[in-house]
Amino acid sequence: MNYKINFDESIPDMIERLKQEHVQFEITLNKITKYNEENNINKAIETINYMSQPIIKHAVEEEARLMRVIMHNAKEESADSIKIMQEHNWVVDFLKHRVSSLENSIYRQQNKQDKQFEQKTRNEINEFVTNLKEHFEEEEQIVFPLALKADLK
Ligand SMILES: [Fe+2]
Ligand SMILES: [Fe+2]
Repeated sequence: MNYKINFDESIPDMIERLKQEHVQFEITLNKITKYNEENNINKAIETINYMSQPIIKHAVEEEARLMRVIMHNAKEESADSIKIMQEHNWVVDFLKHRVSSLENSIYRQQNKQDKQFEQKTRNEINEFVTNLKEHFEEEEQIVFPLALKADLK
């Protein structure tokens, strides 16, 4: 996948924008939780698919710009930020592979009303939502402040 990274945007401007994107993503994640609670798994998955590309683009930008400035100017403090960026692996894996495999299973089970399968899927979606919200929180607490500090050096 190819994303144009805008290297002209300043790091402080970019971080402001990324924070606003977190707010927008959280609104969508809350909708997913609501659909999940209503047992509307199809709608929950449709909403995850709808936010998939923007989230992947957001993650690519964080790695390309924020980690770059951190590794250049604050490498000795980078360990926690690197770990947080590695969380993108499960986020992208879930969005690119796991969601479509859930969709296929739902399609196959359509008429079976398999309660156990439904519950498992809902739990998995809830876990994704919770972990992604935590990821945003960690970025705002650890990665963004360090990138701002590194940008001043
Ligand atoms: Fe991220
Ligand atoms: Fe982020």
